[in-house]
Parts: sequence; structure tokens; C-alpha cells
Amino acid sequence: MRHLLDTRTLTRADALRLLDVAEDMRDTQSREVRKLPTLRGKTVVNLFFEDSTRTRISFEAAAKRLSADVINFSAKGSSVSKGESLQDTAQTLQAMGADAVVIRHGASGAPQTLATSGWISAGVVNAGDGTHEHPTQALLDAFTIRKRFFAGDSRGRDLAGLRVTIVGDVLHSRVARSNVWLLTTLGAEVTLVAPPTLVPQDVSAWPVRIVYDLDEAIDGAPDAIMMLRIQLERMNAAYFPTEREYSRRWGLDAARLQRLPEGSIVMHPGPMNRGLEISADAADSPRSTVLEQVANGVSVRMAALYLLLAGERETTHAEEDAR
Ligand code: CP
Repeated sequence: MRHLLDTRTLTRADALRLLDVAEDMRDTQSREVRKLPTLRGKTVVNLFFEDSTRTRISFEAAAKRLSADVINFSAKGSSVSKGESLQDTAQTLQAMGADAVVIRHGASGAPQTLATSGWISAGVVNAGDGTHEHPTQALLDAFTIRKRFFAGDSRGRDLAGLRVTIVGDVLHSRVARSNVWLLTTLGAEVTLVAPPTLVPQDVSAWPVRIVYDLDEAIDGAPDAIMMLRIQLERMNAAYFPTEREYSRRWGLDAARLQRLPEGSIVMHPGPMNRGLEISADAADSPRSTVLEQVANGVSVRMAALYLLLAGERETTHAEEDAR
């Protein structure tokens, strides 16, 4: 795999390969092997132009567990504030020996630009770009669903037959987009629930069902319900319902939690707005996989870095079709 930029173009074979390698990584770590020598001598740069807790730290943990050197770059406090461009910033880091660049950027398409511009030769991983995609989040979500629903060794299994409902601020959510593409590639049925003003205009081209009423969606008995963060920082107040109305109509509260089918799970990519899109009852319930998702993120990011820096090349869609 040369880069990991999105899940929209990720083949089923490569998605399963990533999840299976993540399972290998998780098993290794659970045997208390804290460090693998696999990426010794490689350098991973975390290039973050937007804030992050989970993604940046888990990429750092993943790289270190594979014995890579890690350089953490945060735009805040850097020469970006003096006007330095993405090209010059990336080339400066490449000159310090970056083999892989993990980039989070507010502009949709920035990772693609870095990967295809020829500015740098390092492999590029998208750690979230604008409202476009967040592929490793979707992979860790799929990994979490797979582990919860297929006990034991789930290597090679897809998500066929599972119903996943994604609720909330779909308009601004790169997590929702990456999950829609990945989960449907893996065979899951995906339903989106959102206020009409928070549904993207091009959603009719997505392979999903759209529902505006959360209670109706819960009646559909989802196996997993994924609550999205309301992205107040990207919100135009003119089209956002009041927080009170949002929480009443689209929030996962104790009453709705009770109505979920037995065995279903509650997911959230974090950070959570407790009391807005998710209540404390739901976030802290035994159904919640929020912290499992965080822990699985390290295994999934180890797999991504491994396949980028030490693995074999990816399968093309043409090769997959020919199988
Ligand atoms: N889920 C997620 O991307 O969290 P962070 O913004 O903390 O990285």
C-alpha cells in the first residue's frame, strides 16, 4: 500500500487485509509484546494542522510500538503561523527523513495533494481532511464492530448482515463519509439519521437509507448505532436546531438506549458532547464501545503503518474484479 487517503476507493480485499493485520497486531500486543522491531529505522511524521487527541496520540503509539521514530508537528506554534505553505512544511519534514506522513488538515483534499503533487516521496496517511474523510477512524470502527459481533478469530469476515445506523451531523462529518464507504464495501446496511439541514446535498448518490426521525430508525433494530459529534465549530447557526431541540429529537438518551435491541452497541468516534448528541447513560453504558474504539485505533493504525512501510502493494479494483 503506497498511501491511505480514503475508504471510498479502498477495495474489499484491502479493507479486510487492514482489519486482519490489525487483528494480528492486537493479538501480539495482548501477549504483552510491547514493541515489534518491524519499522526500526523508519520515521513517521504526524503533521497536524487541526487539533486531535485520539488520532495523533494513537498514531504516535502505533509507530512507537513498531519501533519507528516519530516526529510530532502541530501547526500551532510552528512557522505555519508565519505563512509557510503546506508544500514547504512537508518538504522541510521530508528533508528530516520522513518515510510516512500522517496528515490532518482542515482542507478537504490536502492529503491527496500531498500524495500526488510530487512534493514528497513519503507515504501519506489521511488522519482527517476537512469534511471529506477519516479512513483510519472508519477502519477502527469496522474493526470494533467485527470484534463485537464475531467472537474469536474474525479474520477474513466482512460485515454482511449487520445494520449500522449513523446519527447526527452528517453534513460536516468526515467520519460518517468514511464509514458509509467502508461499511457498505464490507456488506453492512447503513442508515443515516439527521436533521434535514445536516444532510449533505449529494447524499442521494450514497449507498444508504436516510431517515429523519431517530425513533423510527431505532424501530429498525440497528446492531450498531453510531452517534456523531455535533461540530459546533463548523456550524452556521442559521441552520442548526437549538441544542435543546437537537438533543430532544436526535440525541441518544436513556429512554432511547432502553429501546435498542439486546446485543446492539453504541459507538461514538469522540470527542463527545455529553448531553447534546449522547447522554452520560448511553456513553457510559455496557453497550458503549467508545473506549474499545480508542484502544482498537492503535492496532488499526499499526496495521496501516505496517502495510504502508513494510507491507506488499495494494490490490487494484481491476484485479479484484478479475478474481
Ligand atoms: N475521533 C477523532 O478523530 O478524535 P480526535 O479528533 O481526538 O483525533
